Amino acid sequence: MSATAHEPAHGPRPDATKRDFLKLVTGASAIIGAGAIVWPLVDSMNPSKDVLALAELEVDLTPIVLGQGIIVSWRGQPVFVRHRTDAEIKQAEAVPLSELRDPEADSARVKSGHAQWLIVSGVCTHLGCIPLGSKPSDPRGSYGGWFCPCHGSQYDTSGRIRQGPAPANLPVVPYVFETDTKIKIG
Ligand code: FES
Repeated sequence: MSATAHEPAHGPRPDATKRDFLKLVTGASAIIGAGAIVWPLVDSMNPSKDVLALAELEVDLTPIVLGQGIIVSWRGQPVFVRHRTDAEIKQAEAVPLSELRDPEADSARVKSGHAQWLIVSGVCTHLGCIPLGSKPSDPRGSYGGWFCPCHGSQYDTSGRIRQGPAPANLPVVPYVFETDTKIKIG
């Protein structure tokens, strides 16, 4: 499956571009040393902790400004890390499940005590494009989350599908809080 990123019709603001870049560079670091790249084949039948660590990614949350998000790469796939405002959280919590195509409470999509952080797959559940909404200059659609320009799917501030052809919510990826400002995905 291929994923396609889309740029907005208007170029991002210069300050936004710089901020995004810094976040992408400093926001995430894989938990693995270079040595694992040359891991001997002979040991491939006996996975070590180093090999298992390939599936994990630490993300420092401190550079992510309230109301904004970043995209990190985990197992070759984009993952959205969004720092939600109180208004965005309330908006997500207020939606009756009966209005949802893929009914799921917002509280079931975040960690208890960390509702300001939403960590979801960045792959549209329709045909695999990367929805817009993470850059400050991106359109976020009518529901304030993400907008997929490929065929018009719209996701809310909980990453749930609200409009368009996508059949399901953006899945929450497995992660844990290592500290209040650092998560480990995987
Ligand atoms: S791939 Fe997102 S709407 Fe079709």
